[in-house]
Amino acid sequence: MQAFVIHQFGGPEVLQYQPLPVPELKPGEVLVKTAAAGINPIDWKTCSGGGASAFIGNLPFVPGWEFSGTIVNGNGTQWQAADPVFGMIRFPEPAGCYAEYIAVPADQIARVPDIVELEEAGGLATASLTAWQALFDKGELKSGQCVLVLGAAGGVGHLAVQLAKWAGAHVLGTASMHNHEFLGDLGVDRVIDYQHKRLPEHAKDVDLIIDCIGGETGIEALQCLKPDGRLVTLPSVTKDIVAEAGKAQNRYVEAIRVAPSAAQLEQIIGLYADDILHLQMSGSYRPDQLDEAFELSATGHVCGKLVLSFT
Ligand SMILES: NC(=O)c1ccc[n+]([C@@H]2O[C@H](COP(=O)([O-])OP(=O)(O)OC[C@H]3O[C@@H](n4cnc5c(N)ncnc54)[C@H](OP(=O)(O)O)[C@@H]3O)[C@@H](O)[C@H]2O)c1
Repeated sequence: MQAFVIHQFGGPEVLQYQPLPVPELKPGEVLVKTAAAGINPIDWKTCSGGGASAFIGNLPFVPGWEFSGTIVNGNGTQWQAADPVFGMIRFPEPAGCYAEYIAVPADQIARVPDIVELEEAGGLATASLTAWQALFDKGELKSGQCVLVLGAAGGVGHLAVQLAKWAGAHVLGTASMHNHEFLGDLGVDRVIDYQHKRLPEHAKDVDLIIDCIGGETGIEALQCLKPDGRLVTLPSVTKDIVAEAGKAQNRYVEAIRVAPSAAQLEQIIGLYADDILHLQMSGSYRPDQLDEAFELSATGHVCGKLVLSFT
């Protein structure tokens, strides 16, 4: 099979598409032929020596934590050959999803219903699990509450706003002007142009903030919270300074590290199949175009999701 491998940390130029043996299965793993692998900021951050690089041990390393595809060998698990599946696996340990075949823990994946495109499902797991765990596990969101999503047009943000609406919340989101119509169409009640407006003047008494941006943006947003409101911050590189600012202002701040969950994926794909959740696919890239996708993701201005297609 062919897989992307890095032998040293660096920019997109360190990604090599090269032959590797098809992975051998351990008990509890299934072999998947990959249809698509989702591209997330953690991928290029890790390849450049940041992100989850502390978890990957010695190089070489095959990037990628999320995928869709079909089962080739169910290995005595509940899965059968030809079952369509998707998931985010092993995070933050190496998972090797940027490859034509992947050894996948059988209990970290879910079935893709026939009415859902397999390629789209390849970009769904990481961002939707992050949004779900931030809103419901850490944020304890309840119907009728007010949620503010910082970075609402991005991979996590555009799924978080839809899940929050589904849960009965009043939803505010920040984005630049060119994404306002997109977010309005997703049901966001008020979109705030972060480039021209001071956030605390436009969002007050918020119950829950999902902070997909971090740093000074997350710190400034603390002023928008109700006294007993919560802020869940995503970017790990700035989580400590946002948490310190929260402590100084007596505000509840929690960081998140997304975790695999088959049970949550089943709920998410059910909402997707019922047309309640929609994935904005902003690009499907062939293996010879992955460097372009990494460069685009690193701009920090992708709307929705990018995937690497193996079909
Ligand atoms: N801790 C975890 O487990 C975990 C899990 C998933 C993701 N993350 C992290 O969370 C962050 C978001 O992930 P993602 O996949 O959603 O990223 P993404 O898709 O790359 O986010 C891009 C979006 O961010 C928006 N944006 C950029 N700067 C902004 C600002 N100052 N204010 C508001 N919006 C802004 C852009 O909208 P405009 O074009 O309108 O500016 C764009 O739509 C990343 O740092 C990622 O590494 C952490």
